[in-house]
This record gives sequence, structure tokens and C-alpha cells, in this order.
Amino acid sequence: MIQVLDKTFEIFITREEIAKEVKSLATELNADFKNEEVVFIAVLNGSFMFASDLMKEVDLVSEITFIKMSSYHGTESTGRVDELIGLNNDLAGKHVVIVEDIIDSGLTMNKIISLLEMENPKSVKICSLLYKPEAFTGNHKPDYIGFSIPNAFVVGYGLDYDEKGRNLDAIYQIKE
Ligand code: IMP
Repeated sequence: MIQVLDKTFEIFITREEIAKEVKSLATELNADFKNEEVVFIAVLNGSFMFASDLMKEVDLVSEITFIKMSSYHGTESTGRVDELIGLNNDLAGKHVVIVEDIIDSGLTMNKIISLLEMENPKSVKICSLLYKPEAFTGNHKPDYIGFSIPNAFVVGYGLDYDEKGRNLDAIYQIKE
């Protein structure tokens, strides 16, 4: 059991389980994009650890870049989404893979995809380490999913609770 600010969390996905799944996601990507040029776009801040580990296993001619959106505060999604910052790469005619830590309501991804589509990429796929199907009301389900999880708040491995807990090397679930 661990404490982050005022909340207690318990271990949910161990670092070993994460590493195994990250490898398996990379294997799928390596097969699906063999001989293709890919631009990976990692969504900060939450995806920094996942993106770093995933890219070490990716064996493709690829670029990685980082964008930032802000839409989330505390333990419930507000549904409020701000603008996308940090995209300087030319995406026209290229395969894009968005690297996300978690897809909850899917509203952040709706916005990201609609902004990225204006850049005329050849294709856009979503690779999310975590996915909460019960919370999802978005238009774009992830194409590559590490773990489908229940609708409960999690921290660690990049994910935060009020900006704390991102540095934890495993994923912890809130204890109600
Ligand atoms: P969505 O727009 O509801 O899909 O939320 C996406 C963003 O909310 C993610 O990129 C995370 O930053 C944050 N988020 C959603 N669920 C959780 C959670 O359980 N723990 C930490 N952050 C979360």
C-alpha cells in the first residue's frame, strides 16, 4: 500500500507486467509498420515513461515527438480540453502513432485526432498503455491497448494524482 497526498493506493500492475506488455505492444507495432516510416507522437506529461520504454523496443525508421494537452484535474475528468502544443514535425503523408498513457472518457483523444488530421497524415493510430472501456464515450478507440482496466483511478508509471506519483515504477489503483 502506498500514500499519494490524501489517498491510499494499492499495487495494480507490477513493473514486470508492464515491461512484458510494452514489449508485446512494440512487437505488434514492429510487424504492422514494417518498412514504413512512422512518426510517434507521445502525449505529455503522462506518457513519458511509457513512451521511453516503448521506443526502446521499437525497431522502425521512426521519429518521436511530444505534444501536450491539458484537460484533467484531481480524480475526475473535467472534459475540458485545451490546445495542442509542441508539434513541429511535418506529418503530411506519414503514418502517425499517438502514444498515450491512458484513455478514460476519450475526449482528450477526440481533440488530439481532430487537430492532427488537419496535418494530412497518411494514417493515425492510437497506442494506449491503459484503457477504461466503461468510462469511454469518445470517437476513437485505441488501436493498440496494453491493459483494459476498470473505471477506477490509477497512479504511477507516468500517471499522476494532482501531479504527484508519476515517478512510481508500477501502476497503483486507488483504495476506496
Ligand atoms: P480522457 O480525456 O478522459 O480520456 O482523459 C485523458 C487524460 O486524463 C489522460 O491522459 C490522463 O492524463 C488523465 N487520466 C484519466 N484517467 C486517469 C487515472 O486513472 N489516473 C491518472 N490520470 C488519469
